[in-house]
Amino acid sequence: MRCRRLLFGLILGLSAAAAQAAAPALIPLPVQLVEREGRFAVGPATPLVVPAGDRAAQRAARFLIDRLDAVHGPRLALHTGAAEPGAIALALDPAASVAAEGYVLDVSPQGVHLAARDEAGLFHGAATLWQLLTATPAADALPALHIEDAPRFAWRGLMLDSARHMQSPAEIRRLLDQMALHKLNVLHWHLTDDQGWRIEIRRYPQLTRLGAWRTPPEAGRDGEPARYGGYYTQGEIRALVRYAAARQITIVPELDLPGHAQAAVAAYPQVGVTGRRPPVSVDWGVHTTLYNVDEATVRFLENVLDEVMALFPSRYVHLGGDEAVKDQWRDSPAVQARLHVLGLKDEDALQGWLMGRLGTYLVRHGRRLIGWDEILDGGVPGDAAVMSWRGTAGAVKAARLGHDVVLSPSPDLYFDQLQSNHADEIAGRLPVRSLADIYAFEPVPASLDAAQAAHVLGAQANVWSEHMPTPRHVERAVFPRLDALAEVLWTPPARRDWPGFLARLPAQLARYRRAGIEASDSAFAVQPQFDRDAALDTGTATVTLGNQAGYGALHYTLDGSAPTPASPRYGAPFAVALPHTLRAASFADDGTPLAAARTYTLDAATLRSRLGTELPNCPGSDFRLRVQPLPEAASLAPVYAVNVFDNCQRWPDAVLDGIGTIHFELARLPRNFQLAHEAKLVVQRASDTPHGELEVRVDRCDGPPLAQVPLPDPATTPARFTLTAPLPAQRGAHTLCLLFAAPTDGPLYAFARVALQPAAASGTAKP
Ligand code: ACM
Repeated sequence: MRCRRLLFGLILGLSAAAAQAAAPALIPLPVQLVEREGRFAVGPATPLVVPAGDRAAQRAARFLIDRLDAVHGPRLALHTGAAEPGAIALALDPAASVAAEGYVLDVSPQGVHLAARDEAGLFHGAATLWQLLTATPAADALPALHIEDAPRFAWRGLMLDSARHMQSPAEIRRLLDQMALHKLNVLHWHLTDDQGWRIEIRRYPQLTRLGAWRTPPEAGRDGEPARYGGYYTQGEIRALVRYAAARQITIVPELDLPGHAQAAVAAYPQVGVTGRRPPVSVDWGVHTTLYNVDEATVRFLENVLDEVMALFPSRYVHLGGDEAVKDQWRDSPAVQARLHVLGLKDEDALQGWLMGRLGTYLVRHGRRLIGWDEILDGGVPGDAAVMSWRGTAGAVKAARLGHDVVLSPSPDLYFDQLQSNHADEIAGRLPVRSLADIYAFEPVPASLDAAQAAHVLGAQANVWSEHMPTPRHVERAVFPRLDALAEVLWTPPARRDWPGFLARLPAQLARYRRAGIEASDSAFAVQPQFDRDAALDTGTATVTLGNQAGYGALHYTLDGSAPTPASPRYGAPFAVALPHTLRAASFADDGTPLAAARTYTLDAATLRSRLGTELPNCPGSDFRLRVQPLPEAASLAPVYAVNVFDNCQRWPDAVLDGIGTIHFELARLPRNFQLAHEAKLVVQRASDTPHGELEVRVDRCDGPPLAQVPLPDPATTPARFTLTAPLPAQRGAHTLCLLFAAPTDGPLYAFARVALQPAAASGTAKP
């Protein structure tokens, strides 16, 4: 499926410098773009002309008009007939000298011509036209140019997890619109998991009657609903498949098996291993519930696949295969008997057998299995495609074995990774995967030779939704990292150019604002840096401003007002006397906002405190999440850093001279994580009081406590609470370990903020 053909007979290419000087704000960057003299004027009367009978051109033209409407762009009048001077003409041209999905676009002062060999090409060309017509809010002309363009990869995807949290069909349509405008063409739809079964299967109604609903850990408390869930009816799914197809996007459905099966087993315990009915899970992580492997269950899965195939015309059907820990299979006499009858050597081979059975079933119906890279462990059939998520090793192994592969490695292309360490970054996993990281990703592993590399269909980013309870979370996670991904997947690697991408991005961020898309500004958010201890000592902070991308004009104020391009522009570190409020924002050269203003309070109390999200883990475990408990629809905050393996964080180099107390703003969080075989890594610390203690240790996390305070009864205390502990006098800077010696079958605790407070005026230890 990969586009192997050389794109065009003649690659002209521009020098990077020329391209950057006045590059039209196109993402992904076209293969070839030649700027010409002059402009084509666009007004309300500009005709958009398609040949009579060219249905593909009509659909592409409609798409262009609708998308322009969505951002209040220029209005074009759709005409049918022959191309005329002064018109924008779209037409299929079977003789066009372009690759599959490619297009040729000519803009001259006399008119605009877009041609492609196939409908996908026309759509991608229409997306380019849309970007040209929305490059500025009041675009009234197109620059004269010639573009020849076609994708680098045939699989340009995004995976959406609708099992952990669901998105409405309207929200998915918004995502599909954006995917089309980014020239992406595969939506991999993760529809079943331990926490919910989201696809209506008429033959098995319990899958959605029971399997689509879970009871959240804090159900009924603090605004948490009594149950969470829902599903997509077959009618809704058909409509979404049509909506996607009309945008040249294939929806590839995923039923995850044999693991991630708990919602299915909750609905039909007979397809599970133990015969018992588990709850639809409210936990994140890796569960042990598996499907069994008897004939009745295989038939159940085939029956489900019949309905799935009737709904989704996609050539590929994703059958999961990931994280199926085999404890239940190992412990089940029935499964073991089956394994022996089948003559298989172990449980991995049994998974391979099950995948093979279902893969064959798909092939008999003209489809093809794709699965996560664990399917390689059990000897998957040669015609199955592999999705590499445990890094890129699976892709290398699969391609060497002759399987087609799609790259979606964790963490590099996981959009549930945080995109910055900023204090106001929303929930997600660490480590950070920034906009620049996504842009730098190379889908073809360097160790593959040319023949093996030809098996790389493309790549996709995965939007796992455990920590994305609302569409705003999804949009923040996806945009603008999707722009970086789109360029990685479409543009030839030699044309990739990070500074040029950044220069094209402000126009795209402005399009998001006009479309009401909640794009993240993390890459451009202005962060101050200064030495907090020196500022406390001297009463003056020497502030350096910067942002993650190192891009844009940074403007700031010190009087509490909102920074604008007219506010002082940051050039070099500057001094601020305490106390002051610093506000800073970034802008493109033309004044287009890049990042909203952030506010920083520079006063002694704030400088003597740390946010929980700033405090690193204690030694021994680098796992870390930011979670948002009890999210409010209107808010992406507050978020808390948690390490489910060790409820312990450090404050390095805390200056303790003159400090009399330590004050904690805390949150109690549900410990809803299943860790399967990793559960043994959870650090359990002995406690002396019924609900455990919060301890402060100095320099050594395994040393004796310097201070200790009992945790309150969860049954009678709000989920957010404060504690204060006296600190015995200390001199100098020390690392504080802040840990919870509390039962590991109880709640998790998190720090919102930790503050060191000077001893009272009459106090003991002023230096
Ligand atoms: C996965 O992230 N378990 C595919």
